[in-house]
Amino acid sequence: MATVDDQLPPGENPALAHEDVTDPRRRDFLNIATVAFAGAGVVAIVLPLVNQMNPSADVLAESTTEIDLSKIQPGQAIKASFRKQPLFVRNLTPAEVAAADQVSIADLRDKQTLEERTKAGKKNWLITLGVCTHLGCVPLGAGEGENKGPFGGYFCPCHGSAYDTAGRIRQGPAPTNLAVPDYVFNSDTTVTVG
Ligand code: FES
Repeated sequence: MATVDDQLPPGENPALAHEDVTDPRRRDFLNIATVAFAGAGVVAIVLPLVNQMNPSADVLAESTTEIDLSKIQPGQAIKASFRKQPLFVRNLTPAEVAAADQVSIADLRDKQTLEERTKAGKKNWLITLGVCTHLGCVPLGAGEGENKGPFGGYFCPCHGSAYDTAGRIRQGPAPTNLAVPDYVFNSDTTVTVG
């Protein structure tokens, strides 16, 4: 005697053949199950992509730079690196602080006081990017014996921009002061930039 299974078209699941798939409740179940599997598939694909976009631990560590200030004497500066850009850390002498304070703010192209560009009580520590704000050259003045320019701060040899002892633009084509990155003092002798 022929069974239901014998009458099935090739490829049809015999298990379903005994049930009424035209029953609306069963059809809804099948639809929901299909959507749920599709949803799980999307999450499974998206999660690795999202995880790939999260910065790894070494990238996060690279995004801050710790500076030891203990060896930088007044009048000296060091060149460090912050997020792959040059960073100047300068210990201003009292005369350099005074020179910056004497400048009339009204005469500045980018009006900022030294106080606004340094931390409270740490006016002698000038921390800026070593990137000229004209076209991005690295100014001179942080290295031993380098030309500090006519205002005693930094001098960009590319097109002659001159910065003062507060890193403010005073002459030449650069439109703004050298950028001051975010940083915090961890102690009197260490800062974390970034
Ligand atoms: Fe410094 Fe042009 S890049 S003056």
